[in-house]
Order: sequence, then C-alpha cells, then structure tokens
Amino acid sequence: MKKVQGAVHFVANNKLSFERGPSPVELYPTPADQLGHKKKAQPQPTMEEILPKLETPEMKARIADLLSRYPEAQGALLEVLWLVQEALGWVPREGIRFAAKACGCSAAHAFGVATFYTMYKHAPTGRFLLQFCRNICCEQKGASNIIAYTEKALNIKTGETTPDGLFTILQVECLGACGFGPVMLVNDDFATNAKDGKLTMLPGETLTPEHVDNILRWCYAREKEFKNEPVRDALGGSVAGHLGHPGAPGASAVAQTFDYAPPSPVLGLKAVSKETGVVLTWKG
Ligand code: FES
Repeated sequence: MKKVQGAVHFVANNKLSFERGPSPVELYPTPADQLGHKKKAQPQPTMEEILPKLETPEMKARIADLLSRYPEAQGALLEVLWLVQEALGWVPREGIRFAAKACGCSAAHAFGVATFYTMYKHAPTGRFLLQFCRNICCEQKGASNIIAYTEKALNIKTGETTPDGLFTILQVECLGACGFGPVMLVNDDFATNAKDGKLTMLPGETLTPEHVDNILRWCYAREKEFKNEPVRDALGGSVAGHLGHPGAPGASAVAQTFDYAPPSPVLGLKAVSKETGVVLTWKG
C-alpha cells in the first residue's frame, strides 16, 4: 500500500527547518503605514492650533456651499475632509473632528471615513508627494526599478520625506492608469514625464529614469517659482467644481433618469435619458 506522508511527518522526518521571511504586510505596507500614523505616534496639533486655518471666511464659505449641495450634511464629509487636507496639508485628528462637526456626524464615523481612503494623509508630507503605483501592471512594467531609482535620486526611502521638506515617496495601489504603467502621481497630477514646463502623460510615454529626472527638475523649478503657493495646491479643484447632489438646494447637477434601468439585451429593452434624449442600447 502506498504510504501517504503528511506534511507534519514530512517535515519531522526530514528535519527541515524554516526561516520566516517578511510577511506581506511588512513587504507591502499601506500608504498610511508608510507614513507612520499606525506604527509611530504622530504628534497631533490641538484644535486651537488648526482653527485659524480652518475658520477663515473663505473656508467657511466653501464649507457652507458644500453643505448646501447635499440633502444631508453628512454627504459633504469627503469633500470637507479634502478642504481640511488642503488647508493643513494633512488630516490630523482634530481636523477630522472639525469636519465631523461641520457635517453633523460623529467623530468616530468621520475617522472611519478618513482612514478608509488612502488619499487622506495622516501625517505631514513633503511639498511634492510622489505616489508610485506598485500594482501588478505597473510592477510588470518595472515599477520597482523606477521606485528604487527615485529613492536613490532623492536619498530617501518610501514613506520618508527629504530633509528640505520637498519630497515624500509613497507606494500605492492601482491608480487606474494601468495602460501607461509604470505611473506616478505628483501631488494630484499624473506624470510620466515633464516637458516645456508641464507635467505630461502622453500616449506611449512611460516612466523611465530619465523621465523621473525631468519630473524632479520640474518640481525644483516650480518650488522656486511658486514658493508661497499652498502646499497641496492641486487639492480642492474638484471640490470647487462640484455640482452637488441633484435635488439638493443650491446644487446645479442634473439628475439622470432613465425609462428602463438597466437596459437588457435579453428583454430587448433600451434606456432613454429623459434629460438629454440619449438612447442607450446594447451592442450586438
Ligand atoms: S496597475 Fe498601476 S495604474 Fe493600475
């Protein structure tokens, strides 16, 4: 009879020993872990320290505008958190509490939201936050090499900030631009190169060490030119242009309505937008 050897017996009989390698969590820390808010205690400012930046007339007006666009104030929580991050450069605990109060929800709820999305930073970052996708498509196209190259060029490791406060490197999951991989974000802008004074991401153009050098040069030049602009200048653009929840007072977004949803190839139904007259049908 054939003897089937169990795994435990196999290990014992062959005197195998194992050395534990790094766990996936250690190998691939989340951006939040990389910035250290979970592993190291991040010094937190008090409410008194942050209020002068959050209670400016402009901030009050923007928050009031956002709140008016949702049937429930809580609907504006994500965007109010963005505003806090725009004003402070990150979202400290008291900033989360401020957003919760503005949106009429509990601090615990707002904390859950702010820590769920990795786009909210729980520790200060450099003026230029370089976020590299490390997910599968980018990895197959050489993301690790590009990250290692950038770390060497700036003399910092992932999760660290350069001593001059200019750059922080993070590794993040898929940025939704897999076809351009490997890709990176410079603050909130995609970049695979920098040309003619602009960050670019042109079809067929991917990150190479030479392009990383161009991007870093662009950052240094921008820093020189716009020394006093807000740290996270790109944030808030989407907030300012938001049309609001359809139906909320003050919102200018138009509700999309369809005769049939979803259109079904089996039933032969089609969807017609009442607002635009656009007809949606299944192909084939
Ligand atoms: S895998 Fe890198 S953007 Fe999707």
